[in-house]
Amino acid sequence: MTKPKVLLTRRWPDAVERAMAERFDLTPNASDRPLGVSDFRDAFARFDAVCPTVSDKLGPEVFDLADTRTRILGNYGVGVSHIDLDRARALRMTVSNTPDVLSECTADLAMTLLLMAARRVGEGERQLRAGGWKGWHPTHMIGTKVSGATLGIIGFGRIGQAMAQRAHFGFGMKILVQNRSPVAPEVLVRYKAEQVASVDELLPQCDFVSLHCPGGRANARLIDGRRLDLMRPGAFLINTARGELIDEQALAQALWFGTIAGAGLDVYEREPAIPGELLGADNLVMLPHLGSATDRTREAMGFKVMENLTAFFDGKALPDRVV
Ligand code: DGY
Repeated sequence: MTKPKVLLTRRWPDAVERAMAERFDLTPNASDRPLGVSDFRDAFARFDAVCPTVSDKLGPEVFDLADTRTRILGNYGVGVSHIDLDRARALRMTVSNTPDVLSECTADLAMTLLLMAARRVGEGERQLRAGGWKGWHPTHMIGTKVSGATLGIIGFGRIGQAMAQRAHFGFGMKILVQNRSPVAPEVLVRYKAEQVASVDELLPQCDFVSLHCPGGRANARLIDGRRLDLMRPGAFLINTARGELIDEQALAQALWFGTIAGAGLDVYEREPAIPGELLGADNLVMLPHLGSATDRTREAMGFKVMENLTAFFDGKALPDRVV
């Protein structure tokens, strides 16, 4: 029996590429260079499955075709806002993603950013390495206490709950939650969390706000200038979800004028491009989209894509079907 032809758009962990190559007629991307629009259109004519990831932009122009050989997009990652799902559906493509396996590592990184921003870790390290540290003194680089503070979590899915787990049990934080649907009472009880009705209601009550909702058109610029003004002057904004959730120019202004105390970002609107105004803000901690970047998680994500493709080509129900 001929094996399905599968394309990986970037380099994947070796162990996953080896396993995929046994099961499928696999074309890996040895150069690791991102594909362009014409590469995708060409791939849709030649492969049964294409496996993109967050660094690929699959907008409407990619899907502007009469028909395709590709029947499934096995996305390497949980977020799918880089794929025009309506256009994929119109071409009768199935789309799968990789939930669960990255929740813990992404929440670990959100907590890292929260602690780094609150305790001025980036600033401190920069000062020390530049030879600017003059020794201990009582007023040196004073930060914000994390333990016992109030954390607002926007989006209370798997990653939001993993964040609550760390913040509540590890740091005794009070948890407020905003979520588009009601959260089950037993879940709220687990973290002694309280659900509020809207983002506007949550923001003024929090010392820290962490974003864990999906990106895409519906949530674009969810945190804009008006909402940054609703935050406390001593508060911090953390984003490990998607760059488009924040109006970056408005955030830069809020950081420069001290409307909020600081922020921690792992994701950006036009990554890897970062606006200069953000690069120059000392009260901002920035990481290069590292949320899921651990050996175990990146392998687990790849094996999850493999499970979904296997189910698809065996005619079985997909464990992680998006479309
Ligand atoms: C995801 O899974 O959506 C991440 O952003 C990629 O690590």
